[in-house]
Amino acid sequence: MFTSVELRQKYLDFFASKGHAVVPSASLIPENDPTILFTTAGMHPLVPYLLGEKHPAGDKLTSCQKCIRTQDIDEVGDNRHETFFEMLGNWSLGAYFKKEAIEWAWEFLTDKKWLGLNPKKLAVSVFVGDADARFDEEVYSIWIGLDMPEERIAKLPKTNNWWIAGATGPCGPDTEMFYWVGESEFPLSGSNPGNDEVNWLEIWNNVFMQYNKKPDGSYEPLKQKNVDTGMGLERTLVALNGYADVFQTDTFWPLIQKIEEISGHEYAGSAEIRRSMRIIADHLRATTMIVGDDRGVGPSNVEQGYVVRRLIRRAIRHGRTLGIKNNFCSRIAEETIKVFVRIYPELEKNKNFVLEEINKEESKFRSTLENGIKEIDRIINKKLKMMDTATAVRWPPSDPIARSRFTINVVTPREAFDLYQSYGFPLELINEELARHALLIDAEEFKREFGKEYKKHQEVSRMGSEQKFKGGLAGTGEIETKYHTATHLLLSALNNVLGQGVLQKGSNITAERLRFDFNYAEKLTTEQLKQVEDLVNKKIKEDIKVEMLEMPRDEALKTVKVSFDPNKYPDIVKVYKIGDFSVELCGGPHVEHTGVLGQFKITKEEASSAGVRRIKAVLR
Ligand code: SER
Repeated sequence: MFTSVELRQKYLDFFASKGHAVVPSASLIPENDPTILFTTAGMHPLVPYLLGEKHPAGDKLTSCQKCIRTQDIDEVGDNRHETFFEMLGNWSLGAYFKKEAIEWAWEFLTDKKWLGLNPKKLAVSVFVGDADARFDEEVYSIWIGLDMPEERIAKLPKTNNWWIAGATGPCGPDTEMFYWVGESEFPLSGSNPGNDEVNWLEIWNNVFMQYNKKPDGSYEPLKQKNVDTGMGLERTLVALNGYADVFQTDTFWPLIQKIEEISGHEYAGSAEIRRSMRIIADHLRATTMIVGDDRGVGPSNVEQGYVVRRLIRRAIRHGRTLGIKNNFCSRIAEETIKVFVRIYPELEKNKNFVLEEINKEESKFRSTLENGIKEIDRIINKKLKMMDTATAVRWPPSDPIARSRFTINVVTPREAFDLYQSYGFPLELINEELARHALLIDAEEFKREFGKEYKKHQEVSRMGSEQKFKGGLAGTGEIETKYHTATHLLLSALNNVLGQGVLQKGSNITAERLRFDFNYAEKLTTEQLKQVEDLVNKKIKEDIKVEMLEMPRDEALKTVKVSFDPNKYPDIVKVYKIGDFSVELCGGPHVEHTGVLGQFKITKEEASSAGVRRIKAVLR
């Protein structure tokens, strides 16, 4: 059996024997690149060198890099996707190119001295070519020269065989290597990664960075041609040890065992149990590595911290699915630290911080979760009572279809969506609660309806999800966008109720609430607060279109009142208009229609400083 420790070492030794300098893993949190939240590939810390700067260790490098990828988060739970993973890589900074890279990769994979994988169980893919770049004939011939049968070489387009770290920058065609993980011992004839994505497991990607993609979308050839490769540590262990999934490797299995112990379930139990255990192990392992990094961050509502928060919450939900009642997350974190501490010693130093942060978040979310459950009970009871009064008979009917339709009226997809948004309350939990009230639901139909709400919401706030959140854990960006628009409605409502002299003095938005400071001499009366709240809700109900115009600042200032020093605005400004109710200079983003904001509720009014009042409000 190959262990993770052996594989890491072999990889680095092999490339050292080919003249590469071994460089340490960089932090998971990029140091000089605010455009990405996490290091997602071994090449990230090397971008300046890929663009031509000299690396102090030379032009041939190799490393084992800690990585976080969140864009595939929904796929975690299958046999191969991971949020945290380690990427083994080798780089040529203008030194060698396609031939050496591929021949070395082949030697490392198949030579008995190294990994000794059976060549008959390997397949590859190459770039097929398009209007931007030609078919990678050179790479194809190199594979043929290594006796790779033609039928095992998939020719695939950019979506598969092209790599770029962001929207622009160094990029190029790649060739990927796959291992057969199908039921039969050897691959079926004619099978390759182009026609079978399930039974071929990608283990290694070699990118040939020969272009620089420019902002206008064109590709210019790079002066320095580089190689950027990435081999997945756990995936390769699956290939070497014949495991059914990445969770059986020695970097995951102790975590799964701990979850088995805590939950009393067995991993082998059922597909559903397995999925929950995988998600818990994956998410808490990723959390531990992010929080325990030397530049680590704890859970919060912004940036990396928000990713951490979502990971922990999702793990807790799946813990609930497994029937785990008490705090358990920090115990999985402890296991993770044991697994990795020899490789990443910073985990020892940061251990207390990691365990405390995770524990705190878990306790907090458990109470949110309980509040969410109370809220859904409130909705259900209220609706049932209304229906009882209206029909004078207690439904639900016994016919399952009528019953399911009835249930959808008890908790509408919209309400379900709001619960999801405000409490992180997942559909499965809503179903569970309905079941407690003896209500039946057509899960598929409900899911479809819920999905429509979700999509509607996403479309509305597409412009709200900042580039940085593209990584998959959509949520914060979208909620904050809503609060942003609600803030504009609030200011106009205050102007209507208290007078045009009211100006913004401060604003702060989180995924949970908005906070707004404005000048006003006295405490607002209950009546005034109600008027403001009602007016905002009226404007939400009217579902007014939110329009954005770009214009020169001086022109905008002729018609738009501003709360701040006009000179602080850029030459070209964005003006957001909500019908004729609100117009403000603002960078955005905003929702497209006010209708999506839901119910606006002022939760607090207080003094902020002399002559300045503060309102906190939520959207439900
Ligand atoms: N950058 C490429 C990838 O992430 C190869 O390392 O797949």
